[in-house]
Amino acid sequence: MNAISAAPGALRLDRAPPRLDAEPDAERRTAARQRAGARAGPGDRGAELRISGVGKRFDDKEVLSAIDLAAAPGEFVAIVGRSGCGKSTLLRLALGLESVDRGTVLIDGRAPDAGGAASARFVFQEPRLLPWERVAANVALGAPRDRAAATRAAMAEAALAEVGLAGQGGERPAVLSGGQRQRVALARALVSRPRLLALDEPLGALDALTRIEMQELLERVWQAEGFTALLVTHDVAEAVALADRVLVMETGRIAHEERIDLPRPRRHGDAEGAAIERRILDRLLARRKS
Ligand SMILES: Nc1ncnc2c1ncn2[C@@H]1O[C@H](COP(=O)(O)OP(=O)(O)OP(=O)(O)O)[C@@H](O)[C@H]1O
Ligand SMILES: [Mg+2]
Repeated sequence: MNAISAAPGALRLDRAPPRLDAEPDAERRTAARQRAGARAGPGDRGAELRISGVGKRFDDKEVLSAIDLAAAPGEFVAIVGRSGCGKSTLLRLALGLESVDRGTVLIDGRAPDAGGAASARFVFQEPRLLPWERVAANVALGAPRDRAAATRAAMAEAALAEVGLAGQGGERPAVLSGGQRQRVALARALVSRPRLLALDEPLGALDALTRIEMQELLERVWQAEGFTALLVTHDVAEAVALADRVLVMETGRIAHEERIDLPRPRRHGDAEGAAIERRILDRLLARRKS
C-alpha cells in the first residue's frame, strides 16, 4: 500500500506506487532478492544496492578496504561497529555523497552520480531543519522540485501524517520535542518516496523510550513503503530489532554478519533476539580487547 497517498485527509497523489511487475528490471531484482535470501516486504519497491571491492583513503589513512555489501530490494540492513571504523563513510559512499577510490557502487545497476542516487535519501543523527521555516515547508523541501507548490504541500502533509504528525505542519521546529523533530526529518526524506533510505544514527540523540517508539515507527514506515534501508547505529538491540541482517564493521571492513530471521514486530528483551545481540556484542568487545 502506498501509505503516503492513502493517509487520511491527504490529497491523492498523481504518482502511483510503481508496480514491481511493471518495471523492466523486475525479474532481475526479484532474482537478486532471492539470491540474497530476503523476504518480500509488503511494499517490495526498494532499490538493489551493490557495493563491490570499495576502498577509500583520507590522506594517507585507509578508512575502508575492499568492502563488499549487497542489499536486496526492500531489505533492511543495519551496520554496527566501533566509533571511527568507517560506518558513516560507507553510507556516504553508498549514496554518492563521497567518491570511492576503488571498487564500484551500484544502485539498481547505476552509479550514484549516474542517476542511481536519484531515488535515495539520507537521514542524519541531527534533524537539520530550517528553524525559520514551518514544519510543512521543511518537509516540502524534500518533495520533487518539478511538482506544483500545491502538490508538494499535499505530499508534505501526507508524509507528516505517515510519521504521526498530521496537522502539525504549521508549527515551527523550535516548539517540537527532539523526537518530533526527528519525525519531521524522516518525513522530509519520505516525501519523495525513496527506494533507498540511508540512516546514520537517526535515533542516537533520543531518550530510551522515544527511541523505542521511533524504532517502531521506522519499522512500520519501512513495511508500508518497501524501501531498502541501510541503518547505522551504535545500539545493537536496535539493529537486532529492526534489521533483516546486521553487519559488524571493524576498521574499514565488514568482519561479521548476522541474519535476523525473527518474526516482526520484535519485542525488546525476547530471548532469541537477546542471544543474537549477545553474539554481536561479544564480537565487538573481543575486537576491543585484542
Ligand atoms: N572528510 C574526512 N577527511 C578526513 N578523514 C575523515 C573524513 N571523514 C572521515 N574521516 C576519518 O575516517 C574514519 C572513519 O570515519 P567515519 O565517520 O566513517 O566513522 P564512523 O564509524 O561513522 O564513526 P562514528 O561511530 O564515531 O560516527 C575516521 O578516522 C575519520 O576521522
Ligand atoms: Mg559515524
